[in-house]
Amino acid sequence: MFYLNQTEVKHLNKIRGAVADGLFFDKLVKVCDKTKPYIRDKGFVYTYAGCLLASGDKVDGAMKMFSLNMQDTFCSIMYGYLADVGVFEPAGKVFQSADAYDIYVQTNFYKNHQAGTLKNISKFAENIPPPRSDVPVTILDVGVGNGVLLAKIVNEIAPLYNIKVMRLIFIDPFEDMLKKAVGHCKQNINIKTEITTICCKVQDISESQIKLIQQMKPIWFVNAALSVHHMPREAKVPMLKQLKWLSPNLLLTEVNWNHDLPEKGSPELIYSVANNYANFCKDILYLPVTEKEKKLCLYHFPLAEAINIIKQERASRIDYHTPIEEWKKIGREAGYSIGETTPTITLDNEAFAFVMELLGE
Ligand SMILES: C[S@@+](CC[C@H](N)C(=O)[O-])C[C@H]1O[C@@H](n2cnc3c(N)ncnc32)[C@H](O)[C@@H]1O
Repeated sequence: MFYLNQTEVKHLNKIRGAVADGLFFDKLVKVCDKTKPYIRDKGFVYTYAGCLLASGDKVDGAMKMFSLNMQDTFCSIMYGYLADVGVFEPAGKVFQSADAYDIYVQTNFYKNHQAGTLKNISKFAENIPPPRSDVPVTILDVGVGNGVLLAKIVNEIAPLYNIKVMRLIFIDPFEDMLKKAVGHCKQNINIKTEITTICCKVQDISESQIKLIQQMKPIWFVNAALSVHHMPREAKVPMLKQLKWLSPNLLLTEVNWNHDLPEKGSPELIYSVANNYANFCKDILYLPVTEKEKKLCLYHFPLAEAINIIKQERASRIDYHTPIEEWKKIGREAGYSIGETTPTITLDNEAFAFVMELLGE
């Protein structure tokens, strides 16, 4: 989606070198000014230098750099964050509390994305009926979040097959999320449900947890919505293989971003973070909630993620968003065939977020 060409990368690397050499602020600005003519998004030279300075804990310099590109949403939000918080560190562990996500799901951005996701999952459910068996129809949801999406999915697809009881398995590493999801699904799903919760990261699932899920086979499909990008590429393939063994079909909903393979501090990584998170954050600014709630949402969700991606070494990045074509390769390596891939949100005629069918049989 947001890609630099090789000439741009070459010139931006001069800024990276200048920051690494510890150039004084005024001289660094001169390097940025000289680089500008070679970059289509001129203001990005300051965003890039600002992120590199912030990443090296040079907060004053970073703020001054961001202030040179305040018309850019990412720079102005980051500037405000550094002014409020004073350090380039995440405000907290993302998703440990469900509060920030509860605010986020009210954005138009999320609602549009959710509508697109629902449409595609319904189409999948119409084409691939649940397995015949005498046990309740079962769905495994990986990274269930607050349960808002899953409740809508169940209400949409249960009538297709006149399903009266649905069994749901939730995997999520955070107790608060699981509690929220159970409460929301119990209140909002129109049919009877039996819910099992498993508190873990999907890539770290234990043998006993696998056995528990195995007893509930056959599983119609796995729903993994915005939740399996929390591991590097090398862990994604085994994770998908494991899921494929539990159920033949997986509905993967993801953002078409590039935060897995690019190295720390690279122009490619920071360009993708700055642009994608700017678009992601914009709608939060327009929510009809208090300023305090907006900051809670921004600081504990998108900004915390963006700071981690920029600041941490790859091994500790936490978020490893992967572009569509790379997900297709990963899916095939895990033994799936790739079905329909449909954007849920488009930006400049390209998928910003998407649903991909990974099919096993
Ligand atoms: C962006 S929310 C998505 C929630 C919901 N699926 C939706 O689409 O609205 C991501 C969820 O994935 C969970 N998560 C984070 N890391 C995970 C991991 N390694 N394995 C499984 N779930 C994870 C988070 O706790 C959070 O509930």
